[in-house]
Amino acid sequence: MPRTRTAGLLCVTLFAAFGAWAFLSGARVEARRVADKRAEGLAAWEQVYTVLTHPRCINCHTATNYPQQGDERRRHFANVVRGPDGRGVPALNCAGCHQKANADSTGVPGGPDWHLAPLSMRWQDENDRPLPSAAVCQQVTDPKRNGQMSAQALLKHNAEAELVLWAWEPGRRPDGSERATPPLTHAEFVAATRRWVEAGTPCPSVK
Ligand code: HEC
Ligand code: HEC
Repeated sequence: MPRTRTAGLLCVTLFAAFGAWAFLSGARVEARRVADKRAEGLAAWEQVYTVLTHPRCINCHTATNYPQQGDERRRHFANVVRGPDGRGVPALNCAGCHQKANADSTGVPGGPDWHLAPLSMRWQDENDRPLPSAAVCQQVTDPKRNGQMSAQALLKHNAEAELVLWAWEPGRRPDGSERATPPLTHAEFVAATRRWVEAGTPCPSVK
């Protein structure tokens, strides 16, 4: 019966072709989904980066032996230095001036255990220029440099750490003016961190 055999063969061929098509387009859809998720994660990271490099954050994440002050990120007055653990030196330690909360009458900002981020968590170069987005992303996602923080721990830090929260309640300067806050609200910042974490904390490639 050659006709039925031909028909049978045609069926098998069509079936195999359909199978291959379905398989390939499934793989394409999956590859597209992965690429979209990464793109969303990278967009969310760029929002996170605008906050990290805002003066209210980066003034404590320096690459030098001193903290910075103000929106122009000038060197901290009185020759305040980092000291062995970011808390200054005995004669001039951070807690000697910075209390657990802002002191608006004197203009000294404050928060619990006010101190500099360790050098492994610096987001600037030695000339006080903010590091590019890719470098900051690699720093915060590197367990060897970020204090062994998982992605979930980073999310929790951005949502709850007291020194992070301070940046949105930074208090008054000695001249009585209000300090500026980061470009996103805290809720937007946490939402962007969450989108980035859920996308697998992608980082831009180094240029
Ligand atoms: C002699 C008192 C004194 C000591 C010691 C001191 N600070 Fe300050 N700090 C101040 C005052 C006052 C201001 C506010 C200056 C202003 O806003 O013009 C300030 C501001 C800052 C700011 C700027 C906040 C901002 O974003 O504008 C940071 C960051 C900071 N201090 C970190 C530290 C760290 C870290 C230490 C310890 C290593 C420290 N300070 C030690 C008095 C001190
Ligand atoms: C007064 C100083 C200070 C300010 C202001 C500050 N940080 Fe930090 N930050 C630290 C210290 C100190 C650590 C180290 C961990 C610790 O001791 O809590 C740290 C650690 C971190 C980490 C851990 C991961 C890593 O590798 O860097 C993140 C994320 C972070 N800070 C985000 C922020 C953000 C966002 C802001 C502003 C909204 C901010 N910080 C403002 C002092 C500061």
